[in-house]
Amino acid sequence: MITISTLCRAKAEGRKFSAVSCYDYTSAKLVAAAGVDVLFIGDSAAQLMLGFDSTLPVTIDFMLAITAAVRRAAPDRLIVADLPYESCQAGTERIIKDSQRFVKECSADIVKIEAVETQLETIKAVADAGIAVMPHLGIRPQTCQYKAKGTTADEAAELIKLAERMCRSNASMLLLEGTAREVAKIITQRVSIPVISCGSGPDCDGQVLVLPDILNLKAGPVPKFSKSFADIGKACIEAIALYAKEVKQGLYPDDAHCYHMKTGEYEKLEKLIG
Ligand code: KIV
Repeated sequence: MITISTLCRAKAEGRKFSAVSCYDYTSAKLVAAAGVDVLFIGDSAAQLMLGFDSTLPVTIDFMLAITAAVRRAAPDRLIVADLPYESCQAGTERIIKDSQRFVKECSADIVKIEAVETQLETIKAVADAGIAVMPHLGIRPQTCQYKAKGTTADEAAELIKLAERMCRSNASMLLLEGTAREVAKIITQRVSIPVISCGSGPDCDGQVLVLPDILNLKAGPVPKFSKSFADIGKACIEAIALYAKEVKQGLYPDDAHCYHMKTGEYEKLEKLIG
């Protein structure tokens, strides 16, 4: 069973951990079987599952459904739920209510919230309600801006201060997206809680990538910070094309892929229908 304490121990002992963002039962089964410690169910599902051009359109009900599916596939992994834009925009009361739903309805272990300074009180309120919370700092896709963060001294100092304040507001973990490597390293060293990097370099305690990038499922370029470890997209296209070709050629299905009537039943049927 992977818990937040497991990851705190890993941090203390200098052991890195892995995380993957995925969105459905079948993929999550593969991720868990591969031994990945943490499964995110990110709102990047809006783009990668539903084909929207930002993360904004996904609803809380959709996120609850896919988070519960991933939990069913990975009962012993740490599950990170992602609060969608719809919830984040609606104020602290709704954020607490939706975070509670992730815990109650999906058995999520922790809720990730894209957060800025003005949300320190909200982060504390969620933690005070007994829900583990992971502020998502650096690039925040819900702003639809994707410029790397912490690339100047002033911006870096602000980000480091914010990370420390999030920690003091009782955050249990941090996610740093698209942050300069040097800054991510300082934050990871300064805070006592586990820090996960999404494109923020190798010095954080853990790393997360989205599954479609790891597998190159889109069979196209991935973001600069990401890496494809296989070319499954190409293999998928080839397999589906072979299926379509065999259907057209009458090769699939052959008799081995058919059900048959019980012995003697066909003859009876002939008499019945004439
Ligand atoms: O939406 C997402 O998938 C994420 C992960 C990359 C952390 O935020």
